[in-house]
Amino acid sequence: MIRSVFRGSGSALPVRVVPNAKLAETVDTSDEWIVERTGIRQRYIAGEGETTASLAIEASRAALADAGMDAAEIDLIILATATPDNTFPATATKVQAALGCTGGIAFDVQAVCSGFLYALATADSLLKTGMATRALVIGAETFSRILDWEDRTTCVLFGDGAGAMVLEAEEGEESDRGLITSRLHADGAQHDLLYVDGGPSTTQTVGHLRMRGPEVFRHAVVNLASVLREVIEDAGISAEDIDWVVPHQANARILDATARKLGLPAEKVIVTVDSHANTSAASVPLAFDTARRDGRIQDGSLVMFEAMGGGFTWGASLMRL
Ligand code: ACO
Repeated sequence: MIRSVFRGSGSALPVRVVPNAKLAETVDTSDEWIVERTGIRQRYIAGEGETTASLAIEASRAALADAGMDAAEIDLIILATATPDNTFPATATKVQAALGCTGGIAFDVQAVCSGFLYALATADSLLKTGMATRALVIGAETFSRILDWEDRTTCVLFGDGAGAMVLEAEEGEESDRGLITSRLHADGAQHDLLYVDGGPSTTQTVGHLRMRGPEVFRHAVVNLASVLREVIEDAGISAEDIDWVVPHQANARILDATARKLGLPAEKVIVTVDSHANTSAASVPLAFDTARRDGRIQDGSLVMFEAMGGGFTWGASLMRL
């Protein structure tokens, strides 16, 4: 049996930090409201010269260094993003060229905030079938560029960043290291609750993010609890066996409510939404890398990843490091 085994991770953030108080200077909001309703205290916003590709490249270099691997050894790059540098080609190919990878497969995955879960499961499938042997799986976004900065109900929620993970195909049944199982879902009927009102084929513009927040919130708690149960059942474990949950960082209240539904103690949930805000597809690998670098997540940890986003799309993966 082939397993996709974790080798290293990295992340990147823009230089500029924007605290809640700064946003309160331009829209009718307050630090108190944002902290109480979301848990967000600040976000990083890309400046001139910082793009989805540049953040992805920095995160990927850090992940390769952590894995002790050369870019030339990578034969699969999957980049999850809803904010690519260009409509085409895929931002993954820009990353491939910048890293100096000379061959293999490179493409983008578009599942908004669940993008990293979709990319991870896709990489796992390609490694398992022998299509590739070493994968770089990236989540990278510059959501600041699709926000309506006059809409206080959305502009306070998001930030920019990138996270990356290196996986390698490994033969053998003795150890349970690697990606154990994944579950993905989509429900296109919920399009109007969370979407961008532009695109190349409709308006020929990039458009702005539109969200009916409270309705998304309700769906998120139900869908996430349900997919987490599926993965727990499929893996034949119980919730207590999980060492760490690395959730999509949309709202501290969603993280609390989901953990409560599963009976998971809050101390096992990695929370970075306070400092990164919602970085869409970047949020899971960014939170994961943060918790590895500060020593919480260690080799041997059983880690659950989960996310829900526009589409709707949602998913979860269980991995033994
Ligand atoms: N500052 C001050 N007041 C505000 C702000 C703001 N930034 N935004 C909204 N309000 C007001 C509203 O106008 C409303 O006022 P009213 O009562 O006078 O009408 C009041 O605050 C309450 O607003 P709600 O929208 O009901 O607030 P809620 O507690 O639901 O929080 C939030 C809103 C934070 C958006 C929450 O619903 C949420 O997190 N939703 C889920 C987001 C999510 O998970 N997205 C998924 C992934 S994103 C992706 O895929 C791209």
